[in-house]
Amino acid sequence: MHLFFPNVIFKKINSVTFGKDFRHKNINEFMKNILISGGAGFIGSHVVRKFVEKYPDKNIINLDALTYAGNLENLRDLENAPNYFFEKADITQIEELKQVFEKHQPDAVIHLAAESHVDRSIQDPMAFIKTNVQGTANLLNLCRDFWSLNPEYSHGNFPNYRENLFYHISTDEVYGSLGEEGYFVETTPYDPKSPYSASKAASDHLVRAYGNTYGLPFIISNCSNNYGPNQFPEKLIPLCISNILNQKPLPIYGDGKYTRDWLYVLDHAEAIETIFRKGKIAETYNIGGFNEWKNIDLIKELIRQVDEKLGNPEGASEKLLTFVKDRPGHDRRYAIDATKINRELGWKPSVTFEEGLSQTIDWYLENEEWLKNVTSGTYLEYYKKQYLSR
Ligand code: NAD
Ligand code: DAU
Repeated sequence: MHLFFPNVIFKKINSVTFGKDFRHKNINEFMKNILISGGAGFIGSHVVRKFVEKYPDKNIINLDALTYAGNLENLRDLENAPNYFFEKADITQIEELKQVFEKHQPDAVIHLAAESHVDRSIQDPMAFIKTNVQGTANLLNLCRDFWSLNPEYSHGNFPNYRENLFYHISTDEVYGSLGEEGYFVETTPYDPKSPYSASKAASDHLVRAYGNTYGLPFIISNCSNNYGPNQFPEKLIPLCISNILNQKPLPIYGDGKYTRDWLYVLDHAEAIETIFRKGKIAETYNIGGFNEWKNIDLIKELIRQVDEKLGNPEGASEKLLTFVKDRPGHDRRYAIDATKINRELGWKPSVTFEEGLSQTIDWYLENEEWLKNVTSGTYLEYYKKQYLSR
């Protein structure tokens, strides 16, 4: 029996829609309260803003533990929006989650909260297991219980959810590493290789298992590397922008020929909103930028643009390029085939890499205070541990 919320369950029985394959044809009709986890982080903050602005008649609840990566400064402009609510809660703490669910009664969850940095997962894997695996399982359990109209689950008979959705935000890293050729498609077998990607793969498996076993309506999307405003400067692009501004070494792991597919974060937020609105239950969508770069070439392009904006002679900051010891188990290449989301839902990236990178650099140049605030304190300890003895 799963009777955490008997009063809620009773209320919802009256508005039940039966049938396994139904889907909110129009989310405006059914969903009133949308909970976004990890909304104070990099991608989450752009997703929260998109939903708050696009759906003024819906309540958007941002649930975030405010770890080192969460920053309410990212959402200062929304503080007075009447349809925006912030709840500080940790997804590894079930009681904290229950309180938020009881207070806000979410109809849908968009789940972004996670430990997200591969290098940190190599330093401290257990933090990733706890948040990404256990935290996701907590949210799934709660959604199953909260949304279920029939607390007695039995296999193959799950008509008892209203118009709800558990939308899980995942990564292309679950597919492993590619050679020179080929792309990740939605059916590529999972082959995660770092503690981070293994923890995300585990969370994806749990989401599908809850769909299969309990009929929980879910969607998963797996996206490539994001870049853009508000990204914490532990990740390659903002770390290098910050280091160029401070004329510090730009650490390039290994031979620098590792390849990633880069997508502007606002295009990812747009893809998430599109999938939320039009995606099919139990489907997976790959999201990517059709934009592959070797790290060394990308950082040279970054240097070119930053130097130009700062009025430095062309290539002046190339002297900062420093090849350092490789990341253990470093995945050689990721490349997403985003044909499905393009063909079925009509989404494609809206900005070119040159434009996106230029806007990103402009944002960091205009927000030096933000950068200064996040690169003080514990960041310095992380930086020392990660780079000084490399
Ligand atoms: P981020 O590290 O910038 O933000 C993560 C957010 O989650 C932070 O606000 C943090 O406070 C919050 N959080 C962490 N642990 C929590 C906990 N226990 N309880 C509640 N909140 C917690 O991450 P991001 O780069 O914005 O990534 C967001 C999601 O997108 C992640 O699930 C990540 O795996 C996925 N993703 C990221 C990328 C990328 O390139 N950054 C690409 C594909 C998928
Ligand atoms: O592919 C999606 C993933 O992209 C997301 O799921 C992760 O949350 C996100 O962090 C990102 O993972 P990566 O490991 O690819 O991103 P990162 O910015 O850490 O590194 C990009 C590439 O640059 C990678 O090949 C490692 C390399 N690198 C990174 C850092 C931080 C360096 O050469 N030097 C560095 O200092």
